[in-house]
Amino acid sequence: MSSPMSDLAGGATAGGRPMVKAEGVHKSFGTAHILKGIDLEVAPREVFCLIGPSGSGKSTFLRCVNHLEQINAGRLWVDGELIGYRQRGDKLYELKDREVAAKRRDIGMVFQRFNLFPHMTAIENIMEGPVQVKRESKAVARERATALLDRVGLSDKAGNYPAQLSGGQQQRVAIARALAMEPKLMLFDEPTSALDPELVGDVLDVMRGLAEDGMTMIVVTHEMGFAREVGDALVFMDDGAVVESGHPRDVLGNPQHDRTKSFLSKVL
Ligand SMILES: Nc1ncnc2c1ncn2[C@@H]1O[C@H](COP(=O)(O)OP(=O)(O)OP(=O)(O)O)[C@@H](O)[C@H]1O
Ligand SMILES: [Mg+2]
Repeated sequence: MSSPMSDLAGGATAGGRPMVKAEGVHKSFGTAHILKGIDLEVAPREVFCLIGPSGSGKSTFLRCVNHLEQINAGRLWVDGELIGYRQRGDKLYELKDREVAAKRRDIGMVFQRFNLFPHMTAIENIMEGPVQVKRESKAVARERATALLDRVGLSDKAGNYPAQLSGGQQQRVAIARALAMEPKLMLFDEPTSALDPELVGDVLDVMRGLAEDGMTMIVVTHEMGFAREVGDALVFMDDGAVVESGHPRDVLGNPQHDRTKSFLSKVL
């Protein structure tokens, strides 16, 4: 396995640099080897869908992209920058926690559970990051939060507390809250799987709009319809490795590997 020190020019490819690039990414928790050499590339403006059975390592991979977990081997770049390291001259330095946190701000993450602050209204939830983390003025943050609420179809819910919102509405506030930080990459970890079926559509519509606006997105999902319609690329992961990847239409419509076929026969 190669060390991150051995390639300083990584992440650059002909025809523009990928937003995310993983090369032989390994991750273990103690003796449990979870990610077993993930290779993939996400182009800017791409909607990149990640599917696979429970426990295959999808969330773990997202957490590595978002600097929440350190990888054990391989290399992982976001927007051309090696995760966890900073290059100065021809040397790499491990980032301090504060620097890692600063980089995490560029990446929006939406989880299965909405994790809104319960004691803040919808608009206060959206303003919190820009005001507290980016030291933006409340007026500027409120203006953007108002526009974002409109974008997710919740202009009339600005003053509602999370407990006064449906699950689907809370999830749309969570998306707006992530967008308020003006991320260059959005990670979605099964954003609709905790929702009642009738609430799923509104959340997917918001994500579809984001895709149309050119946001780069990695989406872990069980919504194969969404993957097929909106996805530009799809990866099927099993047991910590990429089994099959390609255009969603091809992978979903004509899977090549038995493991993919067997998984799809259960979810489609
Ligand atoms: N912090 C941790 N410590 C120990 N083991 C962990 C930790 N996080 C995840 N794992 C293990 O890693 C494996 C992969 O988990 P992960 O959450 O990435 O799977 P997943 O593909 O997202 O599954 P699901 O579809 O159920 O969300 C599981 O076996 C899990 O128990
Ligand atoms: Mg998961």
